Amino acid sequence: MARTTLITHIDRLVGLHQDDTVLRGAQLAELPTMRNAYLLIEEGTIAKFGSMDTLERVRYNGADHIDAKGGIVLPGWCDSHTHLVFAASREEEFVDKIKGRTYQEIAANGGGILNSARKVAEASEDALFNTAWQRLQEISKMGTTTVEIKSGYGLSVEAEIKMLRVIKKLKERSSLQIKATFLGAHAFPLAYKEDHAGYIQLIVEEMLPRIAAEQLADFIDVFCEKGFFSPEQTEQICLAGKAIGLPAKIHGNQLSLSGGVQTAVKLHAISVDHVETMNAAAIECLAGSDTIGTLLPNAAFFLRMSDPPARQLIDAGAAIALASDYNPGSAPSGNMNFVVSQACIRMRMLPEEAINAATINGACALQLQANCGSIRIGKRADLIVTHPVSSLSYLPYAFGQPCIAQVLVNGLPLN
Ligand code: NIG
Ligand code: FE
Repeated sequence: MARTTLITHIDRLVGLHQDDTVLRGAQLAELPTMRNAYLLIEEGTIAKFGSMDTLERVRYNGADHIDAKGGIVLPGWCDSHTHLVFAASREEEFVDKIKGRTYQEIAANGGGILNSARKVAEASEDALFNTAWQRLQEISKMGTTTVEIKSGYGLSVEAEIKMLRVIKKLKERSSLQIKATFLGAHAFPLAYKEDHAGYIQLIVEEMLPRIAAEQLADFIDVFCEKGFFSPEQTEQICLAGKAIGLPAKIHGNQLSLSGGVQTAVKLHAISVDHVETMNAAAIECLAGSDTIGTLLPNAAFFLRMSDPPARQLIDAGAAIALASDYNPGSAPSGNMNFVVSQACIRMRMLPEEAINAATINGACALQLQANCGSIRIGKRADLIVTHPVSSLSYLPYAFGQPCIAQVLVNGLPLN
């Protein structure tokens, strides 16, 4: 008999989008909701939902029962940007930043990404897997049911492949949906400090063929930033990725007007992520494109930078997603509830806009919108059930408070 679960007494069933298209501009504020609802899950998939008043007409004999007790049910978070495979935390740099050093100064002195790369080089595949597995357990309890994970702390052929194999194993063993992004172009390793062309050649001629042969990545990413990769280098690397079937997701306009947005749009990248440092031309360019702007408020918060101009982007008609950027250097937290709160508090996104950006638009930024990111019949039952709360807005309002009662991944309750 089919594995069936019935959730009853849902005060608000949220995210009932009929289409799986990315939401942009004013559409972001539309979050279709049903009051006083039930939801039926069959074989891990959303099979039916409706008003509690009509439940007696539904056949659910033998189903497991979850009483939502007046809580909200919403789609699990789709976190479309993380670096959650890493060997060690970097709180010593955190203290340096408290004392006044900047992220760029730390990076220029061999800290930052190169610090993480030294530690990944020394770590075994098993050790990297075990710590990343632990992080997946933590974020899933906080409601993340779909997650993208980048390489980029390897920066050598062996270590990049090691990171990507770890991500592949996480995909195979976890019930979360996981996408892998190759970020060999995260920083120039010390050995290639004076030979940038040589490192790009290594990426294109040695890393990408191995990645293609072992099917280790779904996307390609480049850190397009002053002192890191130029727009021209970004283009060269992304085109080589495209040639082996990897669409681009680019780190752009984080620390400066790097040209990352324009490059991403020119390359038809799925997303350009960060976009803290924007001017009118970059906003207009992004808003007029199909590329999703992925905002990472935890990174701006942690680095004490100004926030991405979310309101201006939405008002210009851009498609916006929200993600955690979970990494040891600029966002040591994978808590998407806090991301959504930050988006509302600091960036003035409406709760509905922030929830859409962290669910359906996050799914679009991973090309997974057909099977997750909203409550639609036939999609994976990846769900957050909250404690009873007074309204939807309470969730981002009560920042840092534990609002989640239960998380279901593919129809199965966690723990
Ligand atoms: O997305 N900006 C580039 N990469 C990461 C940070 C990497 C690090 O500091 O370890 C980010 O913020
Ligand atoms: Fe990042």
